[in-house]
Amino acid sequence: MRALPELKKKLRFARSFLQNRMVHVNLQILYTCNYRCAICDFWKSSWSQKPALSAAQVGVISDKLNLLGPQIVSIGGGEPMLHPELTAIVRALARHHFPVMITNGSLVTSELARELFSAGMVEISVSVDYATPDKHDAQRGVAGAHVRAIEALQVLQANRTDSEQRVNMISVMMEDNLPEVEPLIEKCRELGITYLVTLYSHSRGSKPGRLVGADVGERLLEIKGRQRHFVALRGYLERFSEAVEKQGIGPCYAGQNLCNIDSQGDVGLCIDRLEDPVGNILTDDVFEIERHLLERHRTNPCQECWTSCRGSIEAVRHGRGKLANLIDYYQMTRPVPLKSAF
Ligand SMILES: C[S@@+](CC[C@H](N)C(=O)[O-])C[C@H]1O[C@@H](n2cnc3c(N)ncnc32)[C@H](O)[C@@H]1O
Repeated sequence: MRALPELKKKLRFARSFLQNRMVHVNLQILYTCNYRCAICDFWKSSWSQKPALSAAQVGVISDKLNLLGPQIVSIGGGEPMLHPELTAIVRALARHHFPVMITNGSLVTSELARELFSAGMVEISVSVDYATPDKHDAQRGVAGAHVRAIEALQVLQANRTDSEQRVNMISVMMEDNLPEVEPLIEKCRELGITYLVTLYSHSRGSKPGRLVGADVGERLLEIKGRQRHFVALRGYLERFSEAVEKQGIGPCYAGQNLCNIDSQGDVGLCIDRLEDPVGNILTDDVFEIERHLLERHRTNPCQECWTSCRGSIEAVRHGRGKLANLIDYYQMTRPVPLKSAF
């Protein structure tokens, strides 16, 4: 019965994508976090005291965003699984969009996993930065974080309710974890899940000195050539070295193809530019917001990051080698039958 609305949603999404419109929204439903990551500031009190979005507010956001077209809505925070109304939030988003989520995995249970997938979650990624447990725990600021993340991946994979749902492990590439990538992919192979990376952004807080070596792109591409569980887009990885050398990649398509909504409903270009919103989606006209985002995009000189929220959209939409990227995109999103592994 749900097949027809889902097909309609996908066709509308494809049309938006081809028309070069907004297709990806990062949504921080709260900033509270139970971890103390060295690479992130959101758990600090200046952020974590901000109010969370309610499920009713996310319902309004979902309906308004739908006027622009279906979006991949990446639910984050803070730790999104701390939100008491998470299932209702996913349900509200799934009415029109494709909800995905990034979590540290600490609060995953079989019941909640099944509830979230049944509510329409399309993809859940668990952050794991190191194969060496102590290194991961130190980065995340919590003993036992690694063990819980791996358990969470197992539980999530076992509780998918539809073959189109995907479970990923995702690592932030920093100065010291390139040697950890292959052992992490090996773990993904064991778990029957897929592996993604994102590049560390120094704009999120003020933490210089975490950038990888300039050969990171070549080395990741070489690993991808051998490891089919590593599904990051070639067109994304190809620009890692350039991003490291130039400290970012331009032009940035935030404001045109992607944007950010924070836990007050403020809309801005991206998660690293929260202090400068163009409007509030709960109170303002969504087409006005779209117009302001496009204006901001056209005059935006920022080229400071190359994180996966940009890379996975921009590599396919604006990158070279479109066919290779589309094939990778298919690998990233193709259905994986419920009883089998990737
Ligand atoms: C902000 S977290 C929120 C979700 C959840 N609490 C978690 O840790 O996965 C979303 C993603 O951003 C990553 N991240 C945090 N700080 C970052 C930074 N400075 N640059 C790039 N990615 C970062 C996290 O590792 C995680 O994969």
